[in-house]
Amino acid sequence: MTETREPVIEARDLHFRAGASHILRGVDLIVEPGEVVALLGANGSGKSTLVKTLVGINPPTQGTVRLLGEPLTAGRRTTVDRSRIGYVPQRANAGGGIPSTAQEVVASGLLHGRRLALPRGWRDRVAAALTQVGLADRVHDPVHLLSGGQQQRILIARALVREPDLLILDEPVAGVDVASQEAFATTMRRLVDGGLTVLVVLHELGELEPLVTRAVVLGHGKVVHDGTPPQARRDHDRAGHRHQHPHADDNTLGEQARALDLEVRP
Ligand SMILES: Nc1ncnc2c1ncn2[C@@H]1O[C@H](COP(=O)(O)OP(=O)(O)O)[C@@H](O)[C@H]1O
Ligand SMILES: [Mg+2]
Repeated sequence: MTETREPVIEARDLHFRAGASHILRGVDLIVEPGEVVALLGANGSGKSTLVKTLVGINPPTQGTVRLLGEPLTAGRRTTVDRSRIGYVPQRANAGGGIPSTAQEVVASGLLHGRRLALPRGWRDRVAAALTQVGLADRVHDPVHLLSGGQQQRILIARALVREPDLLILDEPVAGVDVASQEAFATTMRRLVDGGLTVLVVLHELGELEPLVTRAVVLGHGKVVHDGTPPQARRDHDRAGHRHQHPHADDNTLGEQARALDLEVRP
């Protein structure tokens, strides 16, 4: 093994067009090992599109992506080791239309690429992942009977069950109650201390603020800020002044509708 520490994510001049819309317009993003990068920006600025491009769901119309030092090339079998990458999509519905248990949904995180059978010991790994999100006692519960926040934690467990080196999360705490957000932040702290690299789309920094090492802000499909997280700067600049939070529900329905739409698009 070489000692050179390559970027975990290296995106160069990424463009993504869908029909007439030019959604990503030249994004450069480098994430180094151990960083926790928050991806921020207004609704519709292209955050979900960017993370989908990074994980290979949206092949870029221009530009290149390297993950874990390997190129992600559309239409060809990639040498990227997908088992080292966990992805938590923006929440639509963890269970889909068919009742699945928490165990089944989390176990599906162990299937990737050419792995079509669950590995030996999968039940223990699923139990460990559910424990990490505080849902060990729900292993046999149908996910559609769980609360929205619990379903979100199931999706996080599905990503964590791989024991990834890179975790990409799209609004993981949207619609999740404060206690669960705190528990999530604690879990993330432990994983980051263990060497995990994180790219997380957030509506606001919230409970994850102490963990975030850098903020990248998108505006109209371009990076408009890359550096100090805005919240930290705000505390420094005007301590004591109450921050104006955007309303938590100003995007939820539209975002979810869009997420659903994107899930069914061929
Ligand atoms: N596949 C697609 N086809 C057409 N428009 C899309 C597609 N995906 C996203 N969009 C549009 O691109 C813009 C960015 O969307 P999105 O990446 O979901 O933003 P964000 O996650 O920052 O809210 C929005 O205007 C959205 O409607
Ligand atoms: Mg989004």
